[in-house]
Amino acid sequence: MIKKELTNDIYMFSMNLEDLLFESMWELPHGVTMNSYIVKGEKTAIIDGVIGWNGVPETLYEILGEIDISPDDIDYVVINHMEPDHSGWIEDFKQIKDDFTIITTEKGKPLVEAFYGDDLTIKVVQEGDSLALGNGKELTFHPIPNVHWPETMVTYETTSKILFTCDMYGAFGTIDQHIFDDEMTPEETQLYEAESVRYFSNVLTTFSPMVKRAITKTKELDIKMIAPGHGPLYRDNPNKIIEDYTTYTKYASGFGKKEVTILWGSMYGSTKRAVEYAEKILKDAGVKVNLLRLPYATESDIVTNVFRSAGVIIAASTYEYRMFPPVAHAIDELGRKKITNKQALYFGSYGWNPGAERDLNNILDNYRMKWQFVEPVNFAGEATPDKLKEIKQQINLLLENMQEKLL
Ligand SMILES: Cc1cc2nc3c(=O)[nH]c(=O)nc-3n(C[C@H](O)[C@H](O)[C@H](O)COP(=O)(O)O)c2cc1C
Ligand SMILES: [Fe+2]
Ligand SMILES: [Fe+2]
Repeated sequence: MIKKELTNDIYMFSMNLEDLLFESMWELPHGVTMNSYIVKGEKTAIIDGVIGWNGVPETLYEILGEIDISPDDIDYVVINHMEPDHSGWIEDFKQIKDDFTIITTEKGKPLVEAFYGDDLTIKVVQEGDSLALGNGKELTFHPIPNVHWPETMVTYETTSKILFTCDMYGAFGTIDQHIFDDEMTPEETQLYEAESVRYFSNVLTTFSPMVKRAITKTKELDIKMIAPGHGPLYRDNPNKIIEDYTTYTKYASGFGKKEVTILWGSMYGSTKRAVEYAEKILKDAGVKVNLLRLPYATESDIVTNVFRSAGVIIAASTYEYRMFPPVAHAIDELGRKKITNKQALYFGSYGWNPGAERDLNNILDNYRMKWQFVEPVNFAGEATPDKLKEIKQQINLLLENMQEKLL
């Protein structure tokens, strides 16, 4: 657990979590942090009080002791976001203290009651409402609905100008000692950038239009520091993560880096050999290639890589009249995530009657994905030199189409 005083009487606690599936499904190669904040005036507030993924808040109580706060001193529990990873400890907290006030939005109130009972004191806040804690500490509240639950808000401390954003502006990746953007080594900066793309694409991208609105709202505040519920804090240049998030909302609708992600699956190697050929063409053209073989790639890597790339190649053979199932599942997941308008190419091998392409089109239609495909290349058995030539031509067209989508 990391403990840090951000400024006079405002503290951060952060706990690293590894070896978990985030939301019980996203495998995280670099883990994630859960960040909590204490604002101490005459009254004390805890924001996004997490500590205790499984409702084990003893660590929180211990570390509060180190800054001379007993759990009994907490007057306000600010719930920016009700998801139990951030709020689950309340169940335990209410056993040891019964006179604290929960601060949440109108949409948060029924959620608090549904998860933690209707015997709690809840103060519902609207846009711009403020709470004076004394000693020059004042919190204001700003709902940012549907990032990614309906009740989400951000909390702003007016003297320090710190914005506590919970899931908004979060990133994956555990933290060792460097918690602020200006403390990072270049390697760490790169890691957290990549992990913020992973986080956004895995957790928030379905809600990109709402994230856009949340970006507009946070831009109206004079921000000195962004303090999210996951990942590093931004005090040197809080605008950097705001701009990155703006870029990510564009990745969700078809823009991307000059990269091609190849989602591929092959039973006996016919499609695989064509994938190897495609990879060489792309590399020769100076394009970064992300090869994800299914079913071996993780769900998290599939979504992250496709999300970030301006171009996608789906390479899969026909299996029982349809697409090789692990690849079909991957595209289905991308549809659920509303990753739209990507520039794409399909190719794959079949034995006697190609069915993969039709299956692909059904999935794309089902989720209204609006991906723009160049001409597909189906080949019986092994791809002939002519078929490989067709693949090359279509890759060149794909690269042309990607040009206006590059960010
Ligand atoms: C379990 C299984 C189901 C198959 N179903 C079909 C099919 O419905 N239609 C077809 O044309 N070929 C079908 N095939 C043949 C494959 O599509 C063909 O062997 C192709 O070359 C495999 O390419 P790959 O090695 O890249 O997976 C099937 C093969 C297997 C092993
Ligand atoms: Fe969340
Ligand atoms: Fe979260």
